Amino acid sequence: MRDVAIVGIGMTSFGELWQTSLRSMWAEAALAALDDAGVESVDLITVGCMSSGLFTGQEHLAALLADELGMAGVPAARVESACASGGLAVRAGFAEVAAGLADTVLVTGVEKMTDVDGADATYALGTAADSEWEGFHGVTFPGLYAMLARIHMLQHGTTREQLAQVAVKNHANGLLNPRAQFHLKVGVDDVLRSTMVADPLRLLDCSPVTDGAAAVVLTTVDRARELAGDRPVVAITGSGMATDTVTLANRPALGELNAVKLAGERAYAMAGKTPEDIHLVEVHDCFTIAEIMATEALGFFDPGFGGSAVERGLTGLQGKIPVNTSGGLKSKGHPVGATGVAQVVEVTEQLRGESGQRQVEGARVGMAQNMGGSGGSSVVHILEVV
Ligand code: COA
Repeated sequence: MRDVAIVGIGMTSFGELWQTSLRSMWAEAALAALDDAGVESVDLITVGCMSSGLFTGQEHLAALLADELGMAGVPAARVESACASGGLAVRAGFAEVAAGLADTVLVTGVEKMTDVDGADATYALGTAADSEWEGFHGVTFPGLYAMLARIHMLQHGTTREQLAQVAVKNHANGLLNPRAQFHLKVGVDDVLRSTMVADPLRLLDCSPVTDGAAAVVLTTVDRARELAGDRPVVAITGSGMATDTVTLANRPALGELNAVKLAGERAYAMAGKTPEDIHLVEVHDCFTIAEIMATEALGFFDPGFGGSAVERGLTGLQGKIPVNTSGGLKSKGHPVGATGVAQVVEVTEQLRGESGQRQVEGARVGMAQNMGGSGGSSVVHILEVV
């Protein structure tokens, strides 16, 4: 297997981007990443996108987007694993470079979610749950994560305030991220008083509906050293993927995210790392409870201690393990297919030392954890300065 590096990063601002189309958004992120890498041609394009058909009426996306970039002829493939589509696009590009099938890959993620109204967006997102056993009965993602939150509270004593503190921290980090959807200072009381969505989750516990695109350019570490100049070379040293039951009712244990645990273990094993070696992590906080459960599944905290860790400030910018320095899905926004790639953009920027006010000092090893549905799939990457 060849060593793989990230030589270019780019993304759009996240938000309600009504003035731009899916393809323009995507091209903006892709061109920024190619420019950052200093390359003009690639051997492959991967596109992570969950549901462009339902959100915008456009399928056959990868070929359409290759053409948009003036790259018709280049192989291009869309990959889908619900909200983990972006992470899977990174893994697909990583595998091609590692295997020697491609030398340079443009990895992208995109979702244009606000061209439909709220009900249609909820329907489109809901297709990532089990349609027959969950969706048809009216369960939505806020509802599914509300059940996970209730179980975690019952089993581990996680409190409503601890959930709120995840949102408070991520909104504080988002204030420092110019690309975030929300620049909003919120306190625990604001979260606890925000509109109830699915008990116990309120508006400020939820990631929003978002438009956005992100891209990274992958190549071999050897070529990256030539391209990087004075910049640190950031390599992907671990990649893990796993699945779990999509249907919550089929899970033997609801208090843990087994796909995240397995994907994390696989990434740690490939990179030869343990949780103690990681300096910062972007986790998939689609709802506040998801961040708490992900930090436990990845081994940063023992099961049941993710909530108290947030309360004690261990996951803050200056904490033991800074979590979601970008503002996370909660504040930066969650254009579902783009999220996994945007997480890798954030970690790369941090490892390069280019994160400005939200920079984690001395960061040399980082992790990105992306998740599909209510944990039916997860992809984890470990990035390192080499
Ligand atoms: N966090 C903070 N503020 C939010 C927000 C969020 N998640 N979602 C919306 N808002 C704000 C809007 O900016 C708007 O503010 P304004 O009145 O100042 O302009 C206001 O709340 C109402 O926005 P609206 O778009 O009408 O909200 P909504 O009620 O239609 O949607 C949710 C709110 C929580 C239902 C929606 O964001 C949602 O479904 N989130 C979950 C997405 C999801 O499931 N993703 C996949 C995860 S697996």
